[in-house]
Amino acid sequence: MMIFCKFEPFCSVFQPFAHLNVSMPASIRLLILLLLTICWLGCDSSDPAMDEPDPEPVGEYTGLKTVAPYPVGVAFQSGRLTSTPHTQIVERVFSSLMAEYEMKMEPLFTGPGAYAWDGADALVDYAVANGLQVHGHTLVWHQTTPPWLENFSGDSTAFEETVRDYITTVVQRYQGKVVSWDVVNEAFEDGTGALRDSAFRRRMGPDFMARLFQYAHAADPDVLLFYNDYGTIWDPQKRAAMLAMIDDFQARGIPIDGVGLQVHITYNWPPLSNITDTMNELVRRGLKIHLSELDVRVNPDGDLATLTAARSQAQKERVKALVAAFNALPPENRFAITLWGLRDPESWLIDFWGRPDWPLLFDALFRPKPAYDGFLEALQEMP
Ligand code: XIL
Repeated sequence: MMIFCKFEPFCSVFQPFAHLNVSMPASIRLLILLLLTICWLGCDSSDPAMDEPDPEPVGEYTGLKTVAPYPVGVAFQSGRLTSTPHTQIVERVFSSLMAEYEMKMEPLFTGPGAYAWDGADALVDYAVANGLQVHGHTLVWHQTTPPWLENFSGDSTAFEETVRDYITTVVQRYQGKVVSWDVVNEAFEDGTGALRDSAFRRRMGPDFMARLFQYAHAADPDVLLFYNDYGTIWDPQKRAAMLAMIDDFQARGIPIDGVGLQVHITYNWPPLSNITDTMNELVRRGLKIHLSELDVRVNPDGDLATLTAARSQAQKERVKALVAAFNALPPENRFAITLWGLRDPESWLIDFWGRPDWPLLFDALFRPKPAYDGFLEALQEMP
């Protein structure tokens, strides 16, 4: 049976069944092909072995890290450390690394006093070996609380001791290797700026963040501590709540060094002025600014089936304007810019929004996109 398929992994799945046409009725063959297709569609696209394996050769291009006066990072997964097309780009382009998932509490903290370090260790070791700075993400996030901790049966003191032990253990394991940590991620509600309901808020009370920052600082006084959130660039209530927390921390001497602004934006929203307004508020407070989690959706309304040249150009202009706005900040406030993923088909946004999109700097074939050029041009045009 002649099997045509576009992707090599698909072909190799079907090839062992090539003899079926001589020995089976058409309906059975059809059923098997259907089941295999469902199975293939269900495959985790994050597995490099299941992605299109052969990148087209691209010419030499300038790595962002060679031009940027601040770290340029990428979110990465240990499963891709064995994929040469990925690591070649990481090493050529970037100077900083974040774990996309493996340094969060749920994968790390598997039970009381029990840890699974493999993924996080592999990423940190790789980064150190290749001269990449590591930003830890994230000590506490309500979405990655391990179920056993969410349902913790001890009293509030025991809960807090457990969380404190966790922070101390993780921060000290990577002391000297991880330069900065997101201590808390996404603690404020959309629209109101109220504190989200979470195990931490419930068990430790409304001042829980201050104590988490203190515990991280006590574990490693040299590590830089960040609060990280989305929506603080477009939601006035959320932004006000975050700034009030920072003012309160600074008035009480609670350690905080910087803020991560998750820039999950689209090619046409929100206005750049929303982002610069928030950055200016942080500059006024003397904080370091991390444009964390950068991705720029080009298909927010679902009107594209493929990426058009016009939308790609709009994405380029958007990235360029954002990077230029960051470049205009005082150097001491520019902490880093981090891309939330390496190439388009691996972006978390595709599952999250359930529609095609092309939000990153590299395409499926590992080629730098116009958005990459936009980032580079903004760096090259810095005064
Ligand atoms: C996402 C990762 O990209 C996914 O791989 C993971 O399954 C869920 O988390 N805000 C954050 C990030 O702070 O940690 C999230 O990352 C995306 C939204």
